[in-house]
Amino acid sequence: MWKPLDVMRDAAQVRSITALFSEDANRAGDFSLNTDGLLFDYSKTSIDAAGRAALVQLAKDADVAAKRDAMFAGEKINVTEDRAVLHTALRNLDGDAVLVDGENVLPEVRETRSRMATLANAVRDGSFPGGGKRITDVVNIGIGGSDLGPLMAVLAMAPYHDGPRCHFISNVDGADATDTLAGLDPETTLVIVASKTFTTQETMLNARTTLAWAGGQAAIERFVAISSDPAKCAEFGIPAERVFGFGDWVGGRYSMWGPIGFSLMLAVGPTAFESFLTGAQAMDQHFCKAEPEVNLPVLLALVGIWNQQVCGHGSRAVLPYEQRLARLPAYLQQLEMESNGKRVAVDGTALSRVAGPVVWGEPGTNGQHAFYQLIHQGRQVVPCEFIVGCEGHEPALQEHHKALVANCLAQSEALLKGRSEVEARAQLAAKGVSGEKLDQLARHKVFEGNRPSTTLVYKKLTPYVLGQIVALYEHRVFVEGVIYGINSFDQWGVELGKELANGLVPAVSGGDYPENASGSTVALLDHILSAQG
Ligand code: F6P
Repeated sequence: MWKPLDVMRDAAQVRSITALFSEDANRAGDFSLNTDGLLFDYSKTSIDAAGRAALVQLAKDADVAAKRDAMFAGEKINVTEDRAVLHTALRNLDGDAVLVDGENVLPEVRETRSRMATLANAVRDGSFPGGGKRITDVVNIGIGGSDLGPLMAVLAMAPYHDGPRCHFISNVDGADATDTLAGLDPETTLVIVASKTFTTQETMLNARTTLAWAGGQAAIERFVAISSDPAKCAEFGIPAERVFGFGDWVGGRYSMWGPIGFSLMLAVGPTAFESFLTGAQAMDQHFCKAEPEVNLPVLLALVGIWNQQVCGHGSRAVLPYEQRLARLPAYLQQLEMESNGKRVAVDGTALSRVAGPVVWGEPGTNGQHAFYQLIHQGRQVVPCEFIVGCEGHEPALQEHHKALVANCLAQSEALLKGRSEVEARAQLAAKGVSGEKLDQLARHKVFEGNRPSTTLVYKKLTPYVLGQIVALYEHRVFVEGVIYGINSFDQWGVELGKELANGLVPAVSGGDYPENASGSTVALLDHILSAQG
């Protein structure tokens, strides 16, 4: 399956991307896709026509289309947890039926969304809680997939935010709860405890701390629970009318489309929330219908696979030129690395190649003044994914948006073209530098160039567009997982640390150290306990 790509490796690694542009005057058009308002340009990569054909064949050989259909049809493709994978059902606004174990899950999804909308409207118009003070603030307590999605989206949707202020507590570090709750009034704060399992140590501890801050059990009337385990929500004391459930067929990091997105719904209102779902649903439909050559999630996945498997670049930077997408890289980090950071295939056999890149990033232009030095001149090549809108939401600040766009385009151009030593010397000479100083400085001013990047362009970051973008990345991760042959929907790699942390809790409280703790951990415990006195 990989052979046609493997044989391209040597040529691809030395290929000049600028030469590809010289050979094909229409390369920008030939190696980009424009669909439903999104333009994806992958022309600034070393993929040529033969490479693309081999990549598309790879997707066909891996049976991406059949596996995609199996996912949408509710087959239990998450085999290690014996679960269907149906986050798409949460944004299926007009379909007839999606079956899990023979049962149509759509009526319950829609009923839950309608209950969420009723409560959201009541909070937003001040009729909740009846007789009490109007809710001005919302605190979402959750971690990982129960935090990153809504946090990212609430920030992204600031121009549409006309509901209560939203805050997020995730870290078990008491500093997070302390700093987030400081200045909030318990009587005007709605608390959402968001946890699929309702057992996550950090979330449950933060929930108990916040309940105590709010005044104890009497304050439970301003608590909402979101979980797939309603019994545990009841045990915590939150009545069924304020519990919003979802099926175990929604993975944590894929869950912002349903009740986990409640803080977003409170922020922007049910109508804008639905528009967010509509954008995602449109991407689902595109993913299901478009041929691989013109299928956005498939192409995005294939470009990533090319960069990693053919060119050998193990890291990927996500660089949104949109300050409100500041948390998108962190969100995508979980999505990609928790899904595809695996060492075995679905059948348990060892993977023959490293699956899943390291994903990281920050918004531009800030990153330019921090880590872009390495991106431009470091020895390792980091494929960059630029994301930018044609328009901002600040008509009075056009100058800012123009500067933003110029910077975004400049970075991919610089990565592509670089600066040769001849150019560097000429530039220095023009500034009057000469002799030994010129010889020495010129070498520092050389940019190798030929560094791959892609650019995703949207018109304006509306709820619909945000839905499109997030669903695009979800499906990209799915396609990558299928091609690598892994189950992208479990996360056993997070278990060991959780188990060891539970074992260490008594030790950090002065109790017994765990048996078999390493010498280092024992020494660290000794040091911390003695420093604590
Ligand atoms: O520890 C990893 C993880 O299970 C994530 O997959 C999940 O998003 C997060 O913890 C939170 O889990 P929960 O929603 O059950 O609290």
